[in-house]
Amino acid sequence: MEVFDLLTQHVSVRDFEATPLSAATKQQLLTAAHAGSSSNFVQATSIIEVQAPALRNELAEISQSAAYVKKSGAFFVFVADLYRQVHLLEAAGQPVAPVTNLESFLVSVVDTTIAAENMAVAAEAQGLGICFIGGLRNDLARVAELLHLPKYTVPLFGLTIGVPRHKNGVKPRLPLANFTAVDTYSAAQFTALGDYDEVVRDYYLHRPSHPKDTDWTTTQRDFFATLRRPAVAAFVKAQGFELTR
Ligand SMILES: Cc1cc2nc3c(=O)[nH]c(=O)nc-3n(C[C@H](O)[C@H](O)[C@H](O)COP(=O)(O)O)c2cc1C
Repeated sequence: MEVFDLLTQHVSVRDFEATPLSAATKQQLLTAAHAGSSSNFVQATSIIEVQAPALRNELAEISQSAAYVKKSGAFFVFVADLYRQVHLLEAAGQPVAPVTNLESFLVSVVDTTIAAENMAVAAEAQGLGICFIGGLRNDLARVAELLHLPKYTVPLFGLTIGVPRHKNGVKPRLPLANFTAVDTYSAAQFTALGDYDEVVRDYYLHRPSHPKDTDWTTTQRDFFATLRRPAVAAFVKAQGFELTR
């Protein structure tokens, strides 16, 4: 399949065959993950494949995505990771403060996200299905405990991958006019969402599973009606990221 078609036909898969991925496939996916760009070559990422059934079950419960985290070909946790840098700075007697500011934390989040999307696309190119699992952030402290994560690491999300049993239709994205411009940010253009709301309403009304009568504006108002995961900030700070400078 052409790369453009592969990218634009992406859908999250939440219903997998129980077939485990082969060791060769996992090796290839991990290699693809780490081939992505990396800010200043810091490679501030670690990927932990979760194999032990008890561990995978607990992470599935934490993420409230049990069905498709427990039953998929493989499950990976993506960790924003500056522990390596701290380790080598400390070994040289250098201060670690430069690793702990907001900029360094963002670098690790961006690197890790690029690696994950690389893995996702590599998996989809083989006909596998994927679903990111941000639900891990429901209880980061417990995830860190379960995976024995040291300071200067933050588990960002999981990625569950497997042979799809069922695939949803492609979800309509914002039209280009609502998120691209030339030379200047265009607030009026980016917030003129009436047409898109109708497209999304039509999609939700007519999708085969869980149809509902809503639009994008409403889903966003509902989603941001409450503060999401306020414990994340304290966890990130407890992991050693001061984020102040
Ligand atoms: C970082 C991230 C975290 C996500 N976490 C979850 C999750 O915990 N559970 C889930 O079912 N889907 C999760 N998703 C999938 C999104 O819901 C999905 O990408 C979005 O609804 C668009 O649908 P599509 O991927 O099928 O196009 C996550 C996606 C991203 C990028």
